Order: sequence, then structure tokens, then C-alpha cells
Amino acid sequence: MARRKQVQENIKITGIADKGMAVGRDDEGMVYFVQGAVPGDIVDVLVLRKKSSFKKGIVYEYKSYSPERIEAKCLHFGVCGGCKWQNLDYTSQVKYKEQTVKDVFKRLAHIEPEEFRSLLSCNQIFEYRNKMEYSFSQRRWATKEELASDEIIEFGPAVGLHPPGAFDKVVQIDKCWLQDDLSNDIRNYLHELAQEKSWTYYDSKLHKGFLRNLRIRNSTLGEWMVLMIFGEKNDKDIFILLDMLSQKFPQITSLHYVINEKMNDSIHDLNTIHYKGEEGITEQLSHLKYRFGPKSFFQTNSYQAVKLFDLIVELADFKGTETVYDLYTGLGSIALYIAKNCKKVIGIEEIKEAIEDAEINKKINNVQNAYFEVGDVKDQFNDVFVEKYGKADLIIVDPPRAGLHKDVCEMLNKTAADRIIYVSCNPSTQARDIMLMPTYKIKVLQAVDMFPHTHHIENVVLLEKK
Ligand SMILES: C[S@@+](CC[C@H](N)C(=O)[O-])C[C@H]1O[C@@H](n2cnc3c(N)ncnc32)[C@H](O)[C@@H]1O
Repeated sequence: MARRKQVQENIKITGIADKGMAVGRDDEGMVYFVQGAVPGDIVDVLVLRKKSSFKKGIVYEYKSYSPERIEAKCLHFGVCGGCKWQNLDYTSQVKYKEQTVKDVFKRLAHIEPEEFRSLLSCNQIFEYRNKMEYSFSQRRWATKEELASDEIIEFGPAVGLHPPGAFDKVVQIDKCWLQDDLSNDIRNYLHELAQEKSWTYYDSKLHKGFLRNLRIRNSTLGEWMVLMIFGEKNDKDIFILLDMLSQKFPQITSLHYVINEKMNDSIHDLNTIHYKGEEGITEQLSHLKYRFGPKSFFQTNSYQAVKLFDLIVELADFKGTETVYDLYTGLGSIALYIAKNCKKVIGIEEIKEAIEDAEINKKINNVQNAYFEVGDVKDQFNDVFVEKYGKADLIIVDPPRAGLHKDVCEMLNKTAADRIIYVSCNPSTQARDIMLMPTYKIKVLQAVDMFPHTHHIENVVLLEKK
């Protein structure tokens, strides 16, 4: 029974839906998507949005807590949007990720893989990321509790991560558990220095402010790259900041900056400037060394990337005679990893700098049979490409979250390679794309957990020609 019009009592949370929202039903079968709950909780829901088939809301009151709950390790948990599942036991996280993939493929897309394998979980569930991107803001994000209290709130500047779903707001972060602790030291040092120097932080409404974003990358070989993103050009202060930063942290082996005066945060279309140290950092994944610059995509969890790439090799079941296309190749990570197993591999990637890195990595690793082309896969992967390199026996695709362009699905269907390995960080778009490829059936499906404490899933599917 409803206690107040907008509060629905005693909703038993039974699972996790798309985008990591907890989901439950009332006695009439109405579906509730609830922020702040985990499966096994019984909660009263403050309904914020109503549709005919579902309601969305936040926890109004916990009636009983799930046995799958644990104490979150992070002091910013619940405010920061980074690790929404830190209060859920890791075994349960794995269980719900598997369930999500099953739901997307079997229930929603009605696709039945021949073999549905268990998710490849992580051994290291903290400090697993090799890249963090922090934002600066003139005004920090205050929690609901702070706003409701009688305390006077200091809305000073902040450097940190975003609250859930609010990409223009910044939660001040003192310690994040996702990357090696040096990342915290670098960020906190810059925050202190900026206040000492009275530098301005970015104001996302006015689109001005000196300090905008901070990208920190590291590798298991102990190398560190910092890319400082400024919102305004001010050479004197830029050089003071970079010099003081590199003096304070000799661990930084590669230091860059870029000036972003655009309305959005993306920097792929801007020139980054190499300031000090090496131009890139190097990571080792199994038998390969990868050197990459500040703009190239690299798998963010190096430990799981090895498992992911080994899974691709296993599913490919190479004979050594195959021509392979690696579409959305980035800096050629997968292409170079598998090169020793096949006759030749050709990668396509739209970021020019990533392909420059791919060519460097080809040399570093003495790979002779990998070739790379720059361009949009939608334009590049066509009949001329197939004519030039020969028909593929295997095509690997690893697109961004949006999935494949429908023309790419059409071309994959038409090219009719014997097998396709589709790697995706978004099972929903992956299932949608596979439905556009009637030439293929799913032989094997296996997810890999690259991002503990988040709802994000990396899913690998082996497709075979029917
Ligand atoms: C998920 S990453 C995969 C990279 C690589 N396979 C790896 O494992 O490191 C996707 C890559 O696709 C590239 N990309 C995105 N859209 C593209 C497009 N339309 N055409 C070509 N490359 C694209 C991105 O720049 C990025 O490097």
C-alpha cells in the first residue's frame, strides 16, 4: 500500500537492470528501477518518474538490507558516480553481470548462444585502472545530507569525479581506490598548488577557468603519464604548474598538456603538447610491449586485458593461415597480440595518432605481418579494402559503446568471413548489431570483468557462419 502518493512501500529488489539500476516489482507486477538499492534489499521507493510499464525512483527508506551488501571501502561512496557497486560483494557483482548479459541476449534479443560461459572475473578489484580522468570545477558538489544540515557549506573549488549522471558537476575526491595511490598524490598536490597560486578552476556554465581536466595514466612497468588540460592559454602559469609537478613527482615519465577552449571536454581533435620526459609510456601485456601517447585508446585494465586477448586467441583457434581484419584497432593492441598466430592482420582505426602508435609498436615488437589504415570503419571497410588485402577468414570488431554502424553490419554480412569475434563494452548495442547479421549464429559468449564495482561489462561473442 502506498504511504504517500509518490512513495511505494516494500519493494523487494531482485536484480540489476541495464545501466546498473536495481530493479524490483510490486505485488501488481509493476517494475521499479531504484537508485541506491542492491538485490536482496527491501525498500520504500520515492517515485520520481512514472510510465505505464515501469516507475523510476530512489530509496526512500530501507526496510531490510540485503545479505549481499558489504561495507564500501571508499569514503566518497554514494556521492561519486565512479563505483556504484562497491557496497555489493564481488561474487554478487559477477553474478549480476552474468545475469545482465543473459537478459540482454536471451530475454530481450532472443538470441541463444550455443555455449554460454561464466564471466572471467578479476583477481585485483582495487587499483586496477591504468587511466583516470579528473575534472576541475569552481564549485564543488555538495551532498543532500550536507545541504539538509545546519552547517555552513563551503562551496570552494574541487578536483575529482562526477556524481552519478551529472557530468557537469564535480565531487571533491581525496582518495580514489581505482588507480595506484600515486594518482591521488598527483591530483591532491595540484589542488593544493592551485589554491596557493589562486588559479581558477573551470566553470562549465561560463565555459572559462584555467584548470579543466587531468588525465593520469600508468603501466605495470612503473611508468606514469600526465596530461594536463587547461581551459585557457596562459603560458606563464602553465609552465609553472608543469615544472613544479615534474619536480615534485620524478615518477612522471611522460608529461603533456593541451589547451581546450571548446564547449566540450573531448580532446581527440586537439593538439596535445609534449612537455617533458618520454613521448609515451610503455605497458607489457604477455609477450608484447605497447608504447602509447596521450590520445591513443588503451585497455584501461591491463590485468584483464591479457585475459581478454588470450580469450580472443583461444576463440580464434588459429591455424596460422588466416587473414584477419581487426576493426576499431586503436593502437593495434589486438592485431599485434594475435599477429604471431595468423598469416596477416589488418587494423582500421580513425584516430591518426593511435595508428602512428600502432606502427611504432609493430617495430618495437618486430611484427612483420600487421598492416594499419586510418579512417572511419564505415568508409574504410569496403569492397576495395577486401580486394586489397584479400578476403578475411576472421574479423575482430571492438567498437565503442555505440556499437557498429548499420552499414558496417551489412558489410560484415556481405563479406561473410567464416568467423567474427565481436568484443563490446555494451552488450545491448552488441545484441542489436548481431540481429542485423543473419548470416551468423552465436557459437560462444563470454564476458570479461574489466571494471569491478561498476555495472560495465566487456562481452566477447564468437560468431560463426550458419
Ligand atoms: C573500444 S576501443 C578498442 C581498441 C582496441 N581494439 C583495443 O583493444 O585496444 C575502440 C576504438 O575504436 C576507435 N573508433 C571509434 N569509432 C571509430 C570509427 N567509426 N572508425 C574507426 N575507429 C573508430 C576508437 O578511437 C578506439 O580506438
